[in-house]
Amino acid sequence: MQKISAQIKKSGKTIVLVPTMGYLHEGHLSLVRIGQKVCDIVIVSIFVNPTQFGPAEDLDSYPKDLERDCALLKKEGVETVFAPASEELYPAGYQTYVNTLKLSEHLCGISRPALFQGVTTVLTKLFNIVNPDKAVFGKKDFQQFVIVSRMVKDLNFNIEIIGAPIIREADGLAMSSRNAYLKKNQRDSALSLYKALKKAENLVKKGEKKAEVIINAASKLINSFDEILIDYISICDFEFFEEVKIIDRPVLMALAVKAGRTRLIDNIILFQ
Ligand code: PAF
Repeated sequence: MQKISAQIKKSGKTIVLVPTMGYLHEGHLSLVRIGQKVCDIVIVSIFVNPTQFGPAEDLDSYPKDLERDCALLKKEGVETVFAPASEELYPAGYQTYVNTLKLSEHLCGISRPALFQGVTTVLTKLFNIVNPDKAVFGKKDFQQFVIVSRMVKDLNFNIEIIGAPIIREADGLAMSSRNAYLKKNQRDSALSLYKALKKAENLVKKGEKKAEVIINAASKLINSFDEILIDYISICDFEFFEEVKIIDRPVLMALAVKAGRTRLIDNIILFQ
């Protein structure tokens, strides 16, 4: 991959990386299409990164279909897919990790303590291997987007990080490879995330400024669905994820719930 990337660079072309864990959906393909607008060559990485999963999480059952993924990417005109084996990125004796200290201690970092260290470590490796000029990340994982942007700035990577809008199903559910796990009733309940965010948006548009009132309304709505367990609902600033009590500027409302055993996240920017 390093050789291919060096050849592309030598020919004067720019590279954009779209990092994924595979089992691609329209959300991923939208990142590819954004990539195609900003650079000459799109490289997609497909790697289910073991270091970002906790011991009780879904590493072993994470959906995979490399053949289908490659066919979808080919249709989009992507010619280079980087899909290393786990032992290639983490050979025996592996010792080095990258951390974005405080940013990882909020939101998803609380219930998934391994997540962001794993993400920043694998992305450091992918950036060093692919050597892209730009990289595209979906904003469904808003915290990940902010953390990666911070890491690139702090560690002087010469890479522009591009944030892409959340892609939703027709009824509003944010697209995610993990949606494949959902049984029919859980799929219905999963929609509560989007409904709660929309409710919050309406309340704020009508003049509600108290974060507590909005969080309570969202929580009540989500809890009225079956098989749903809220992990967190947070209204916070979108740079450091510090809690906000009064909405007097644009803020991030982020939430994570479990529908059955499937963990889902979503978010919205609230402003009046
Ligand atoms: O968002 C994802 O799919 C993963 O966290 C990423 C960025 C590919 C790193 O493994």
